[in-house]
Amino acid sequence: MESFSTLLRAASREQHQQVRGSAFLSDLLGSRLGVDAFARYTEQLWFVYGALESGAERLAGDPVAGPFVRPELFRTAALERDLEHLRGPDWRSGISALPATREYARRITECARAWPAGYVAHHYTRYLGDLSGGQIIRDAAEKAWGLPRKGDGVRFYVFERIPNPAAYKRGYHELLDSVPGDELERQRAVAECERAYALNNAVFRALGEEFPLSA
Ligand code: HEM
Repeated sequence: MESFSTLLRAASREQHQQVRGSAFLSDLLGSRLGVDAFARYTEQLWFVYGALESGAERLAGDPVAGPFVRPELFRTAALERDLEHLRGPDWRSGISALPATREYARRITECARAWPAGYVAHHYTRYLGDLSGGQIIRDAAEKAWGLPRKGDGVRFYVFERIPNPAAYKRGYHELLDSVPGDELERQRAVAECERAYALNNAVFRALGEEFPLSA
């Protein structure tokens, strides 16, 4: 029987390629968009991580989701510093969630409230991605818009308390493999991971419509 982490990774391989190849991300990484597009994307992440992290405290004691609630991963404070840098001190009054972002955040909140294994699927899709491809995005953003290396504007991508991301990801995979639950529950969680990718893709599509360079 395949381990849970292998199942998750295998099931999302195709969607991972899709999301990487989205017009918005390609334009962003290809330095074809201005810093405004990057700021708009960062805003969307703030709503997503708000949903992931505001429910986390309540889940800390949960046997399934609890082990994943780890303060060294939390991104909300970093996102707030980035937004202050990118949008200025009044950033809170000027930001808005795209409908696709609202839908994504809504689904995370729903899982956080009622379905811990579903929450884990969302947790995996975001944080493990940030620890991996996120570093490529940071590098591109620093170069394209002259943002200070690992500083304000890109703090979201900097996990100060995780000095060795590769080792951390190995530990995370082990944690996934020790999640209690039967085969059916694991299959449902894998399907939720696929849904998480689809929700991410929808956000990128909406951002692509707002910043339609590749069209
Ligand atoms: C341009 C954007 C992206 C690039 C270049 C990228 C690249 C990568 C790379 C190089 C890895 C490591 C693969 C490995 O360890 O063998 C990875 C893993 C991962 N990425 Fe991405 N990625 C991007 C966007 C995303 C997005 C938008 C998501 C989800 C919303 C995501 C989710 C993941 C996940 C969950 C993993 C961990 C797979 C695992 O080890 O189980 N990635 N990505």
